Amino acid sequence: MNSSELVKLLDPDWSAVSPGTGPGRNLSRRAALALRTLITSGLLPPGATLPSERSLASAMSVSRPTITSAMDELRSQGLIESRQGSGTWVAEGRSVSSPAPTMAEVVLVDRGINLAAATPGDASHLGPLSLDMGDLLSVTPGHGYDPAGLVELRTAIAAHLVRRGGDQSPNDIIVTPGAHSALSLCIGALVERGDRVIVADHTYGGALDLISVARAKAVTVRRDRLGIEPDDLDRALRRHQPSLIYLMPTVHAPTGTTTSDARLREIADVLDRHGVPVVADETLADLALRPTCPRLATVCRRAPVIELGSLSKVAWGGLRIGWLAPPAQLRRRLAHRRSQVEIGTSMPSQVLAMDVFERLDEIVAHRRRALTMAERHMRELLSTHLPRWEVDQPDGGLCHWVRLPLGDSLPFVETASRCGVAVMAGAMATPGDRPDSHVRICFDRTRSEITEGVVRLESAWLAHTGADAN
Ligand SMILES: Cc1ncc(COP(=O)(O)O)c(C=O)c1O
Repeated sequence: MNSSELVKLLDPDWSAVSPGTGPGRNLSRRAALALRTLITSGLLPPGATLPSERSLASAMSVSRPTITSAMDELRSQGLIESRQGSGTWVAEGRSVSSPAPTMAEVVLVDRGINLAAATPGDASHLGPLSLDMGDLLSVTPGHGYDPAGLVELRTAIAAHLVRRGGDQSPNDIIVTPGAHSALSLCIGALVERGDRVIVADHTYGGALDLISVARAKAVTVRRDRLGIEPDDLDRALRRHQPSLIYLMPTVHAPTGTTTSDARLREIADVLDRHGVPVVADETLADLALRPTCPRLATVCRRAPVIELGSLSKVAWGGLRIGWLAPPAQLRRRLAHRRSQVEIGTSMPSQVLAMDVFERLDEIVAHRRRALTMAERHMRELLSTHLPRWEVDQPDGGLCHWVRLPLGDSLPFVETASRCGVAVMAGAMATPGDRPDSHVRICFDRTRSEITEGVVRLESAWLAHTGADAN
């Protein structure tokens, strides 16, 4: 690959300093990180030859010593190999045998008190759920395979979306084993190797994993307190010609913020002008703790918006029930893809999900009350025990998005894990695992888990920064 082809694959903002990193994170380190991302995502596959240091330095507009030291770093990590006279290439098997850990591998592992996974701790809040042979015998078709999902469940999901301003009918819905699977389906159907996918500058880490599986490239758009910035979105659309846009307009993960109504309309105007397919992931929308914007799918006029949803956060992740609601022009394509890669969702789970839908308003109201109390309890404890941490009250969801007075939260997260409490490093929510000063802390836990979790976070902070840190 020559240097100009390689530079086209790089994140255009690769040299930008992330907040709090300061000049210490020098240019060669950032160049190494940018190249590492190409290797671990497979955009630079094992065996790919790299251009000479001189031409790469010139194409990346940096000095030769900067590239030399970036290459040294990649060599020391075993990501690239060089031989005198034969040049430099991506080490064999690196992107396959040593991938960066996925979001699920990092947050779903139980280590001590797990405040990293953004999910209900268990299913106890659902009350009694039952399933008997009669339920299974009443399922149509009797053999239990149905790529689109049980029609009664699709009817319940469509009614749920209509209550939130949509106009879907049961035939517009595809049931999936969770929203992650629904997103995987959208990316599989609409994104080709080497394509660009637009995401917010912090986003659902699982989306980044799926974009990397597709050998595509995530391009970020800036976001402020009101939502993603329409001008930056417009610029990114012109510059990168993406094949898909992935957004969480109603309740954004990992920050828990909503988009303002006015901003949502500006975003919809930009999306309508470009007409690129948009995934609106509404997995957290029912867990809004304050009034939120309308659903993007009900505001866009021209852009094809595929709405995703899930019972994982409202009810229980173990149900593995999610869905997608594609617009008419994408329905056939996504349904076709669905039957290529998966031929149904668990029937017992779908039957149980119908029971959940019958009581959904009651479950949502109960969850919102419980989350409001848990959120306040954790925020008060954090402000007492860790006063230098910046903790905002979220608009919704299950987590606090906390800024630490550190350039990179990852080393602290490792210390916390050793102290018996898991939180998610902000880098998991950025493409290329860029250093990030935030941690995501889930408050969807019992009062005593929250209390003990914060006590352990305080011990970890003292161990990490020294006893005078507060
Ligand atoms: C924004 C978002 N989308 C999708 C998912 C995946 O959820 P599911 O369990 O429905 O696959 C998650 C889970 O963490 C999430 O936070």
